Amino acid sequence: MTNITKRKFGKLSTGEEVYLFEMKNSSGAYVEIINFGGAIRSIVVPDKNGVLGDVALGYDTAEGYEKQDKYIGALIGRHGNRIEDARFRLGHRKYSLAKNDGRNSLHGGIKGFDKKLWDAAIDGETLVLKYTSPDGEEGFPGKLDVTVKYTFDDENSLKIDYSAESDADTVCNLTNHCYFNLDGEGSGLILGHSLRIYASHFTVGNSECLPTGYVAKVEGTPLDFTDFHVVGERIDEKHEQLLFGHGYDHNFCPDGEGFRRMATLVAEKSGRTMDVYSDLPGIQFYSGNALNGLPPLGKGGKVIERRSGLCLETQFYPNAMRFDNFEKPVLKKGERWHHVTVYSFGVK
Ligand code: BGC
Repeated sequence: MTNITKRKFGKLSTGEEVYLFEMKNSSGAYVEIINFGGAIRSIVVPDKNGVLGDVALGYDTAEGYEKQDKYIGALIGRHGNRIEDARFRLGHRKYSLAKNDGRNSLHGGIKGFDKKLWDAAIDGETLVLKYTSPDGEEGFPGKLDVTVKYTFDDENSLKIDYSAESDADTVCNLTNHCYFNLDGEGSGLILGHSLRIYASHFTVGNSECLPTGYVAKVEGTPLDFTDFHVVGERIDEKHEQLLFGHGYDHNFCPDGEGFRRMATLVAEKSGRTMDVYSDLPGIQFYSGNALNGLPPLGKGGKVIERRSGLCLETQFYPNAMRFDNFEKPVLKKGERWHHVTVYSFGVK
């Protein structure tokens, strides 16, 4: 049984109030979500000795969330990750998007869903967030009505249920950009975490971290996480993919179809584990390479250092509109986009 409570978190520079929702389960473990960016602010779960600790990077103030440019904890939309040249073709029409990553569009554009104040309502044990993206926002066609439902159960599973409908054909690729550190946020780097990704293939990236359309085997590369590997083991190898990504910043293609386990993360020190499940086609493993210690400071005034958190973002493959061999993140007028991702926490 999960109890959800609401309190004021702080004000944005516009004077608007941001609310924090705490979802606490029967064991006392809890998740905090704010309605600015729909961001996961904290995930407080037990370690191997039963001691609760916060495994999600975040900020103490609304101002921190407003100023940050690392997407920490936030919901991402309308289109997660990159679209090359910030343009795509859908049917007979071409669309130009806002460029916010060189010539490319990243994570929804200049003011993506991560910078929007979402409507939030508690529905029993579910937190329901809603945002309506107007037609043409950041260049995307169609008015998009988005609903994200967060639940946190007694098994310490955080479920994110995404749905969206549009009044015109559009693209939709919703995700969440939580940075995890299973030893506790602010406890150091994630290089000692062990990771397994149930993917025998990944999408090859170029120097702009854009998929080239080529899907390669992970076998024989430092991207092979089909068995557990410590994140830091090969991260600084002079492998072209790692040089391009400045570490890990790659879309993996988990084996199988439908709702399936995609990754398992283990922190040896704390004994905490996390399994990621989703019905989406891909998962971005991003090792926090662009975190840089600059303000805004993290929770408790802690510096958010490079690689002090990692992301496992479930998604349609980035840049998918370009390539026939990638499943398209297309949402047709009147149809419903619906996908589910679960982050499940445990101990070893
Ligand atoms: C991308 C990175 C990007 C980061 C922004 C990740 O999802 O793959 O390339 O730097 O988000 O924080």
